[in-house]
Parts: sequence; C-alpha cells; structure tokens
Amino acid sequence: MSAGRGLAGLGMALFLTACQGQQSALSGGGAESDRTLALTVLLGVGGAIIFLLVAGALLVALRGPRRWRSFLSAHTLVVHGGITFPAVVLSLLMIYSFAVLRAGPVPESGPDEPSHVIRVEGLQWWWRVTYLQPDGSEIETANEIRIPVGEPVRLELISADVIHSLWIPAYAGKLDMIPGHTNTLTLLASEPGTVRGQCAEYCGGAHALMALSVTAMLPPSYERWLAGQAEPSQPGETTGHRAFLSAGCGGCHTIRGSPARGRVGPDLTHLASRPSLGAGTLENDAAGLARWLDDHHQVKPDNLMPDYDFLTASEQAEIVTYLSELE
Ligand code: CUA
Repeated sequence: MSAGRGLAGLGMALFLTACQGQQSALSGGGAESDRTLALTVLLGVGGAIIFLLVAGALLVALRGPRRWRSFLSAHTLVVHGGITFPAVVLSLLMIYSFAVLRAGPVPESGPDEPSHVIRVEGLQWWWRVTYLQPDGSEIETANEIRIPVGEPVRLELISADVIHSLWIPAYAGKLDMIPGHTNTLTLLASEPGTVRGQCAEYCGGAHALMALSVTAMLPPSYERWLAGQAEPSQPGETTGHRAFLSAGCGGCHTIRGSPARGRVGPDLTHLASRPSLGAGTLENDAAGLARWLDDHHQVKPDNLMPDYDFLTASEQAEIVTYLSELE
C-alpha cells in the first residue's frame, strides 16, 4: 500500500514538475494561455469529480448494501444519470468552449490592430524573425522573439519550405506555418520573462532541434533593444572579419554593416546578443561557436550549412572571436 502511495506521489510530482518552467502551457504568461489554462482546469477538475462519482457508484453497485444497490438500479436514476446529466453537462461545456474560442485576447483587425507586427518564418530548422516597422522598414534577427509586455503583438507565420508549427506554450496555443499561406497569432504578455518555444510539427530530421526563445520586456527596454537591433554591427576590420568573408560565409549570412549579404542562413548582425546558437541547440559562447563550426552536422544533422573543416585552427579561432563580438 505504501509502495503504491509512493508511486502515486512520484507520479504527481513528475506531473507537476512537467507543468512548470520555461515551456509550459500552465504557467499562464499571457492572455491566450490564461484562457487555455482556465479551460484546462475546468475540464480537468470537472472530469475528475465525475470520474470519482461514477467510480463510487460502481463500488456501491458491486459491494454496497442491498438498499443502496436498489436505489442505483432505479429507472429514474438510470435515465437522468445516464442521459439527462451527460447531455446537459456536455452541452454547457460545448457552449463554454465556443465562447472561449471566440473571445480572442485582442482584436485581430480594425482600429485596434496591434501596432507591433513580427513576421516569423519557419525554415529547416530555424526561425527567421523580422520586425515590421510602421515606416515600412524591417529589422531581421533569428531564433529569438522579443515582445513588449502589455501590448498586443501580431505574429505573421509563414514557411520557406515544409509545414512547421510555432508553439510558445506560455503565451499561446500552437499554430501551423504553411508554405504559401500566412497564419496570424496575437500574443499579449502579462509580465516580463523569458520562455522557450518549439516547432510542434514534424518537419524533417532535426525537427526536435528547432527551438526558440521568447522574451517579454517592459516597453521602454523593448524599444531600446529593437533600436539596437536596427543598427548595423560595428565589427571593425579584424582578421576574423576578413577570414569570415574569405571563407565565403557571407554567401549565406548577412552581417549588416559588412559586405556579407547572404539570405540562406540566419542574419548574424547581432549574433552575440542572442540566447543560443543553432536555434536552441548550443550555448552562445566561444565554445559553442567553435563546436558549431567544427561539428554542426553532428549538432544539427542535415542542416544546409557546408562543412568548414578546411579552416585552419587559427582562422577558426579568429572567426569565433569575430562572431562573439557581434553584440
Ligand atoms: Cu520545424 Cu518541426
């Protein structure tokens, strides 16, 4: 009995641990996820109560005193418990669910259209993130989304290759990114913090290695951060900069403020300010950069970047230094 209780306790602890932290729909970081949480709690608690009632009735029917058993087998109880009750409860739940689905956190269009619009493009296996500015200009980053707290942000979700799905459980439900089609998702963060998001649709071998970080910041900090991202990088004419260009990295990557203008891979202009490398696969530090250059086909199999094993150790070290300075 105590072993069973221990096991149940362990199960409950694991369940609750799984619900906390950076990537949880139950941590309620925004308006969308608050509604999902309310629906989840209602269905979970309601379902548990009904289950206990039915299990109790079953126990009484099997083992209970004769008087209780005949009460359970009465015609009215069977009709009302078996038909009326489920019909009423399920109808009410359906009406409630429709109401939850209809009531978006913020209007998707009209005069209250969000003033922050971010285009997120899924690619095998990373995220191109572009901040669409009111003046028509665009600020591009990768594998990280930042949003202002308390202000609705519309995400325009597109895909460059196959179907991906953006899922940031702390803020909203998952939504597919479909080639040739734009889906929109509105986020409204209620407090500052950083959470993890993940591609939620199998999109090829490295699908599980397609994560991103989402940070909600107070609006003044957000505006400062965005203005910083709009600036070109100030790398200087270092040997690392020259090694980066002569190795051909600029054919695929853009570093604004340098001749590197490639569009195949992530924009690296402010790479050093990002929380991770390779869309959540490596720490963003010198060791992570070196590991990526050495071994990225191990770290993220089948990614499009060519092997760079022709670099000498000193060239690689110079490129690592250069990239770590792209704040
Ligand atoms: Cu992208 Cu799974």
